[in-house]
Amino acid sequence: MQNAIKNYEDVDSWKTIMFLYSAALKEVGTKLEILNDEFQHVHKYNPIEHIKTRVKSPESIVKKLRRYGYEISIENMVKYVNDIAGVRLICSFTSDIYRLAEMIGNQSDIKVLSIKDYIKNPKASGYKSYHMLVSVPIFLSDSVADTKVEIQIRTIAMDFWASLEHKIYYKFEGRAPEYISRDLRECAEMVSKLDDKMLSLNEAILKCLESQKKQGEVRTVQNLEGKQQAAGGLR
Ligand code: GTP
Ligand code: MG
Repeated sequence: MQNAIKNYEDVDSWKTIMFLYSAALKEVGTKLEILNDEFQHVHKYNPIEHIKTRVKSPESIVKKLRRYGYEISIENMVKYVNDIAGVRLICSFTSDIYRLAEMIGNQSDIKVLSIKDYIKNPKASGYKSYHMLVSVPIFLSDSVADTKVEIQIRTIAMDFWASLEHKIYYKFEGRAPEYISRDLRECAEMVSKLDDKMLSLNEAILKCLESQKKQGEVRTVQNLEGKQQAAGGLR
């Protein structure tokens, strides 16, 4: 972040700030892993397929501040760039997204600063995802620093679409021909249909397994009763 660094004091504060962001990522990452493990323990099911974390590069931070029209300074970066620490949670089903968002919001030391639900309100590009901007307290030796983390939660299918669209966007530097943007929006529709279908299929599978289990239990009870009767008859 050369533009922002004017003297050694700045180098120091840059390092301290970046240390806080990477500590916040570790903190949130661990919290999410614990939630996932607990879910597995209680419900025998993992809502999180995988977790990706990243700290924004100095170049991207400067680019964003320029895009927003702010002077390049550490103060502005902390104030205005909300995604310096970013976590992406990839789930199987749309229902997992809301379940996870609720579990994150319920953690007493996490402050939810804002929510953007691009699943209920997709972007014009077709982009779908659930974004939470949160802050977590980072406990240092002599102080506590609330540090912002952007959490993006999406399904595998939404992630597939977003990563392809991101590549295309960069290839065309944001000016893709209309027919390509249209095709991408069409793909976004297909992704939504696939997600809906997968969710209802999963619900059908769970229901079917549940009724098979119940039938199995009934059969076991009938078998036991049958055996008891047979034993009684021999006496
Ligand atoms: P940025 O200034 O770009 O961060 O946007 P914002 O401050 O309005 O926040 P928003 O929540 O809309 O977007 C934040 C992040 O979501 C981006 O950095 C991307 O990672 C992702 N994102 C948002 N829109 C799109 C999109 O249309 N396509 C893809 N592939 N990703 C998107
Ligand atoms: Mg971003």
